[in-house]
Amino acid sequence: MISTAIGAAAVLVAAVAVAASSVVSPAYGAAGVTLDDRVAHAHWRYRDSGKVLSNRVNVQDGVMMRGEWERRLKATNPRLVMRKVDVVALKVRQTLQVIVARNKARRQSRIKLDAFRRNAAKVKAFCAAMPRVAILHVHPSGTRDLKTIKEMLTELNPLVNGSLIIEEANDGVLTTLYPNEVTALAALPVQRYSKFGAAGKRVIEELFFLPRKPETHSFTRFEALFTIGDLLLEQDESKDVYVEEKTFLDFAKRAVRLGLSYVEFTKVEIPPTRKALNRFGELKALIKKETGMTANFVFAFVRTIEPTSLNRGWARDLVNLTTTAEENSLRGIDLLANEVGTPALEKAQGIYMPVAAARQAGETRLKSTMHAGELGDPRNVRDAMIMGAERIGHGVLLREDPVAIEFARRTKVGIVCSLVSNRLLRVQANYRTHPFLRFLRLGIPVSLSTDDEGMFRTDIANECEVAVSNTDVQYSEMVALSRNAVLESFAGSTTKARLLATLAQELKAFEASFKRTG
Ligand SMILES: *[C@@H]1O[C@H](CO)[C@@H](O)[C@H](O)[C@H]1NC(C)=O
Ligand SMILES: *[C@@H]1O[C@H](CO)[C@@H](O)[C@H](O)[C@H]1NC(C)=O
Repeated sequence: MISTAIGAAAVLVAAVAVAASSVVSPAYGAAGVTLDDRVAHAHWRYRDSGKVLSNRVNVQDGVMMRGEWERRLKATNPRLVMRKVDVVALKVRQTLQVIVARNKARRQSRIKLDAFRRNAAKVKAFCAAMPRVAILHVHPSGTRDLKTIKEMLTELNPLVNGSLIIEEANDGVLTTLYPNEVTALAALPVQRYSKFGAAGKRVIEELFFLPRKPETHSFTRFEALFTIGDLLLEQDESKDVYVEEKTFLDFAKRAVRLGLSYVEFTKVEIPPTRKALNRFGELKALIKKETGMTANFVFAFVRTIEPTSLNRGWARDLVNLTTTAEENSLRGIDLLANEVGTPALEKAQGIYMPVAAARQAGETRLKSTMHAGELGDPRNVRDAMIMGAERIGHGVLLREDPVAIEFARRTKVGIVCSLVSNRLLRVQANYRTHPFLRFLRLGIPVSLSTDDEGMFRTDIANECEVAVSNTDVQYSEMVALSRNAVLESFAGSTTKARLLATLAQELKAFEASFKRTG
């Protein structure tokens, strides 16, 4: 069985190699221009266009429109254009490299996942114990699980007004609810949570999670969850601190139980103020004290905010605020929300270019990551990287652009993937074909995260189970995913070194014990 599989893989490798070389040699060899020459030229256009964009935004205080941007990104030398045939050749070459990397990972793996990936109980046991120390893409208000929600509702006892929820969480633009949900909400009596019977309470608690049916949802149905959360948990300002701290601490406690000791939260705190930045520091200290977890924060801008000039002003304010003090808890910027109709170039240039310039000038230490390639324009990942994003949240649509993939692997841009989120929100139809593994095998530093784990009813161990049972990910690749979460974090070098040492130690112990018992 196994030898047949290896034999088949070898034949496939040979076939792809022949296919690749027959595409490659006549087209490039003769003309003296290689595929790599063309890719390098395309990447030079990325960098050159990025410089023009920086100058436009930071020096001229102007704006780069899409037409000019795409024109600038085109090859300037006709001999070096990426033709259709070149794109195909590049894809074939990458596929070949993916196969070679997969086979190498299989050979190097100390634990053979192929031996038990169809056995759900064994996969569960493996993923519960698989060492991991860091998680990088966490939206605090999306983390609350059913236990946390029940406790908060009991403590806050909010007024539940179905009509108000319909009005705010079903605006038809940013948020939507299903017709049956609207009917059910309209029928609810307007009263406090404690007045409902057990069944009524269940209905209210379920409002905090994506419905189980249908199986997948539009982004606007997802966004409704945040509105509902705010409506029910933020009625009494005097309880805001309770809600915030319980949200962070409950998540951190669960995360510690799953082996994590470092988390990066993406938090919306616009407009930026000294007070908000100080609060990051207080929360970091609280989380450390109560759970032992090291937490850092990423300041999230919202891509749907109009006019775009608001974000531009706030980015400058943020840089200004962070220049005055060495920030210990705030490590970077992010851009989030529905990517449909809010492309990266148009929405991010006024935010990312000033931050990149300030960082180059040594005025801030803020790094940048961006939600890109989740939905919307597939060019967003490319443009995020050109605008200086060192790490991408989601990145799924990067799969469409082999030239941008080459850029990510050569410049080591990290990609943080959330498998359950991507399937539930129709970003990737099934786990089996999710590109995280292709990216990883091409040498892009991919890691796994949970995004909004409460809302999606997942956690980092479950993401591992999804990966192991639906793909042919190898053990050495699971190790790489765990390591990449540290390497691609915005933690300082001392923290990174400590986390890597802990991970190495845990891996050693895990491999020894898993061999004995597994
Ligand atoms: C419930 O919300 C609706 C819609 O906003 C509002 O008109 C109504 O006054 C609210 N009811 C109570 C009791 O607050
Ligand atoms: C930045 O901060 C300084 C003082 O800390 C202030 O004088 C200046 O106006 C600020 N600039 C902007 C753009 O807010």
